[in-house]
Amino acid sequence: MKIPMRPVLYLLLLLSFLSSNSLRASLATSSPSLPLSTSSRWIVDGNGRRVKLACVNWAAHLEAAAAEGLGKQPLDTISGGVVALGFNCVRLTWPLYLLTNVSLGSLPLRASLAGLGLLESAAAVAVNNPALLDLSLLQAFQAVVSNLASNNIMVILDNQISKAGWCCSKFDDNGFFGDKYFDPDEWLQGLTMMATMFNSTTNVVGMSLRNELRGPKQNISLWYRYMQRGAEAVHAANPNLLIILSGLDYDKDLSFLSESQVNLTFTDKVVFELHWYGFSDGGDWENGNPNEVCGSVVDNMMKKGGFLLEQGWPLFLSEFGVDQSGRNMADNRFLSCFLSVAAELDLDWALWALQGSYYIREGQLGYDETYGLLGWDWCKARNSSFVNRISALQAPFQGPGLSNNSPYNIIFHPLTGLCVVKKFSSKNLLELGQCADSEAWNYTAEQHVMLEDTKYCMLAKGVGRRARLGTSCGGSNSIWELISDSKMHVSTKLPINGSTVCLDISQDGTVITNLCKCLSLDGTCNPDSQWFKIIRSTRERESQTAYLKLPSQG
Ligand SMILES: *[C@@H]1O[C@H](CO)[C@@H](O)[C@H](O)[C@H]1NC(C)=O
Ligand SMILES: *[C@@H]1O[C@H](CO)[C@@H](O)[C@H](O)[C@H]1NC(C)=O
Ligand SMILES: *[C@@H]1O[C@H](CO)[C@@H](O)[C@H](O)[C@H]1NC(C)=O
Ligand SMILES: *[C@@H]1O[C@H](CO)[C@@H](O)[C@H](O)[C@H]1NC(C)=O
Ligand SMILES: *[C@@H]1O[C@H](CO)[C@@H](O)[C@H](O)[C@H]1NC(C)=O
Ligand SMILES: *[C@@H]1O[C@H](CO)[C@@H](O)[C@H](O)[C@H]1NC(C)=O
Ligand SMILES: *[C@@H]1O[C@H](CO)[C@@H](O)[C@H](O)[C@H]1NC(C)=O
Repeated sequence: MKIPMRPVLYLLLLLSFLSSNSLRASLATSSPSLPLSTSSRWIVDGNGRRVKLACVNWAAHLEAAAAEGLGKQPLDTISGGVVALGFNCVRLTWPLYLLTNVSLGSLPLRASLAGLGLLESAAAVAVNNPALLDLSLLQAFQAVVSNLASNNIMVILDNQISKAGWCCSKFDDNGFFGDKYFDPDEWLQGLTMMATMFNSTTNVVGMSLRNELRGPKQNISLWYRYMQRGAEAVHAANPNLLIILSGLDYDKDLSFLSESQVNLTFTDKVVFELHWYGFSDGGDWENGNPNEVCGSVVDNMMKKGGFLLEQGWPLFLSEFGVDQSGRNMADNRFLSCFLSVAAELDLDWALWALQGSYYIREGQLGYDETYGLLGWDWCKARNSSFVNRISALQAPFQGPGLSNNSPYNIIFHPLTGLCVVKKFSSKNLLELGQCADSEAWNYTAEQHVMLEDTKYCMLAKGVGRRARLGTSCGGSNSIWELISDSKMHVSTKLPINGSTVCLDISQDGTVITNLCKCLSLDGTCNPDSQWFKIIRSTRERESQTAYLKLPSQG
């Protein structure tokens, strides 16, 4: 579906929203002390405090070899929007030839757009980013990095492809070392140039050495040879950077690292990255029972890369995303499962993608990116409910230096991105609320869900009835088991007749119990209102004193 370009003037009217200072100020967080390094599985700042990468991918590797969207909004408005939407980082993609082909790097942005017949885009850049239009592509790239830096956004430079264009296909000759457009020496040279160019830009915190290795030439021993060389080259040029290594098979497979680790002359800078989409899992999400699919794809992801966390390496989920219209059922199902894992493992991640549209993608002018965080016109978030869902994951739950708290549990509901909290208007009832406001729960070895430091436990009262906090914690209805292949159904047995019920939410967000739904086999149903993930947190939390004053009755 082709979307017509809109008049430039209209764009001008719409940008005041995101550039408002109040919006930005309200989301400002304390900046980490850079550069970053690693401490076992965590990325940490100069004070040893965990920094969670909550990034969004911004494409600058397509045919125009320039950051997308410069015709849609002023650069500073786009950066301001990234901050306003809660991200602390951008994974900015670049084509290798931008660095290694001098004629490409020195081509003015205006000429690059004109050469592709994108005169309308050039005119739009003239309006929104007049200062960039006559810069060379390399200077324009630097201007984008510099603007992100001045907005306190960390930048990860991702070498997405060699020859500028949409990525990736198995047969695009950009897939693996030795392909037509992927000469290892040229790649090393380009990485070195890029790392050197930003050796004094502290906000450039890392480099993804090469995106989504793939294709018929894939080879594990060559992976080690060249990725190690790439890592050494970047580190030599700029020792401040995190070195981010991508796996095979479109970055879905790092399993070979369980046998043999990388061998480098430096430590504390290496991060692995993995990509995970709904379509990565074959047609499973369309046809299978969502509990069974979630259970099996998570298992697979742990074998393909998740195990690295246990081995003490940071794992950056550097691409995930969904069609934000809500019309893709497989993506919808995937997202709830993905969010539960991202919360539980407290992963660093980068959403695909910031861009609401492209100058041109796969031959189509003004291509609408349905996975885009921003709408087609780059004015505001494409889907605010999506933003709400991922926002709980933008701050870290765990890691060094976060707080002096001992760990507690929170109960995350991936369908909404909210957490189980005490109902504001009632002492004993529960509802969904912001995870940042969550009580400290304790899911004990005896499978009680206790309000920490109190005698209050969670109790089921019946089918369709509200769950309650009480102190009569001896019955079957106070024992909560995690069932189904997803282990996200939180179930208990009613004392009256032994019926099993599961935590659920009602229309108004109250936590209730219902008959457990869609546990297995059936691929036509959707269990995710009953999906909850009990996760570990050491975040600063509210004082519990108020709850000690609850009446002593269940
Ligand atoms: C280098 O870039 C220029 C400008 O885009 C292009 O015309 C030329 O074909 C490129 N050279 C190579 C070797 O890719
Ligand atoms: C940074 O790179 C420049 C070249 O762009 C070089 O002259 C300078 O010595 C480098 N600085 C460091 C600290 O490596
Ligand atoms: C991988 O590359 C090495 C070195 O070129 C070669 O010896 C080996 O046969 C290749 N393996 C596969 C599976 O292609
Ligand atoms: C690791 O690399 C060093 C230096 O490059 C080399 O001497 C050593 O043999 C390598 N070790 C392994 C296990 O490959
Ligand atoms: C946003 O996403 C939700 C959930 O997938 C969907 O129901 C809704 O229609 C979407 N809204 C827009 C504006 O696309
Ligand atoms: C839960 O409480 C037990 C003591 O009853 C304590 O040992 C454990 O550390 C607590 N766990 C969490 C996650 O709060
Ligand atoms: C058990 O009791 C609940 C609540 O009264 C009722 O809704 C449910 O149908 C009963 N289950 C069975 C199997 O009788």
